Amino acid sequence: MKMWVQSILFGTFLLETYGFSVNRMNIGEKCQARITHSVDYYVINEELATITCPVSQYLPIDLSTVQLVWTRNGSEMQDTAEIQRKRDTLWFLPAVKEHTGIYTCVVRNASYCVEISVSLNVMSDTPSSFPYIKYEQIAYENAQFLMICPALPDFTDHMTINWFKEGKPLPNDGIKYGYLDGTTYALINDVSLEDEGYYKCQLTFSIENINYNVTRIIQLRIIDQGIRQQPVILNSNQKTIAASLGSKVVIPCKVYAGHNDGDLMVWWLANGSFVNDYSKDDRVTEGVLQETTEVEGQYFELPLIFERIEEEDFITDFQCIAANEYGQEILPAQIKQAASSFAWYIAAVPALVVFLIIAIIFIAKHRKCGNKKDYSLAKS
Ligand SMILES: *[C@@H]1O[C@H](CO)[C@@H](O)[C@H](O)[C@H]1NC(C)=O
Ligand SMILES: *[C@@H]1O[C@H](CO)[C@@H](O)[C@H](O)[C@H]1NC(C)=O
Ligand SMILES: *[C@@H]1O[C@H](CO)[C@@H](O)[C@H](O)[C@H]1NC(C)=O
Ligand SMILES: *[C@@H]1O[C@H](CO)[C@@H](O)[C@H](O)[C@H]1NC(C)=O
Repeated sequence: MKMWVQSILFGTFLLETYGFSVNRMNIGEKCQARITHSVDYYVINEELATITCPVSQYLPIDLSTVQLVWTRNGSEMQDTAEIQRKRDTLWFLPAVKEHTGIYTCVVRNASYCVEISVSLNVMSDTPSSFPYIKYEQIAYENAQFLMICPALPDFTDHMTINWFKEGKPLPNDGIKYGYLDGTTYALINDVSLEDEGYYKCQLTFSIENINYNVTRIIQLRIIDQGIRQQPVILNSNQKTIAASLGSKVVIPCKVYAGHNDGDLMVWWLANGSFVNDYSKDDRVTEGVLQETTEVEGQYFELPLIFERIEEEDFITDFQCIAANEYGQEILPAQIKQAASSFAWYIAAVPALVVFLIIAIIFIAKHRKCGNKKDYSLAKS
């Protein structure tokens, strides 16, 4: 018994010596809630990028009444020449490959605290990255389409945007394409199936006399006459979300229904079962179906909500299905385990146990030797 206590004390001592400490998080108390934000940021290397703490997507919180800090690897971030904090947003001036990683914003008021981790991926400007970086937009065959340069940082300045298709500048001829200086969209006339593909819009501007580019990749999908009645899931390629055990995750499923939402149905499956069969205790649920109407038609969004991620989620295939009488589309989604970006103790608890067992074995051996020595000394 005494030896156990000693071993634990010794283990703790070693942990302290090696710089581990339960209070390593220098940002205060452990938070009640942890969220892994399921939508990653993908940006282009050497370009200006911003990431915003997505807290308002989860909580009705007034940012002026809370303390918000950004952490990386468990320590609070400070402003540097390259990364600057502006209210709830981190500015990368510019983002480079080494900035790839997980950033966590900790939002705290007097009685509540939530940690939200957001993943940033800085990628090369090459076609192999486009499937990750792209923003999807949908146009109808034989119609006119207004393509928007999406998710631009907030600027009040005059904007100049250059447009490209498959790497070549888009001719601003007013016949097939048209775009005006100072606007963030381009018009495509008489849309045909050949208009499908990757477009690029590039905004160039300067901050404090340093020039930056912000490029967005748009994948344009053309809906042909034949299937224009069928629902379309935006970004319907396989989603893999890295989430840490115990955190909350919300996976969006956004469906474009055109002007034909009549009999649209949207639902989620887990390994082929309905969500309320997969999770009988409401740990995993479907959110409320949200509807928004835009000029180009109606959008529906049905989130899948994990109150806290458990082991079984890592071995389950999730699917969002959107269907009407004309056809269906499926969004497959998978959750893989992420090294925790939250307070390190989640990952550290098993490590601590392993470490203590090793320490105990080590001490037990060491003590045996010690005893022998004592014995021989006593004899002589
Ligand atoms: C964060 O931790 C990882 C793994 O320990 C390390 O590779 C990375 O350089 C760290 N990043 C920063 C910004 O400290
Ligand atoms: C802190 O935030 C929580 C969650 O939004 C809210 O319910 C609570 O009223 C807030 N408390 C204070 C003291 O502002
Ligand atoms: C912006 O992009 C253009 C063309 O892609 C390139 O020539 C220019 O050097 C870039 N500017 C900066 C500041 O990176
Ligand atoms: C889901 O299916 C996979 C493969 O078919 C299986 O290995 C896994 O155990 C299933 N998940 C659950 C939670 O039953």
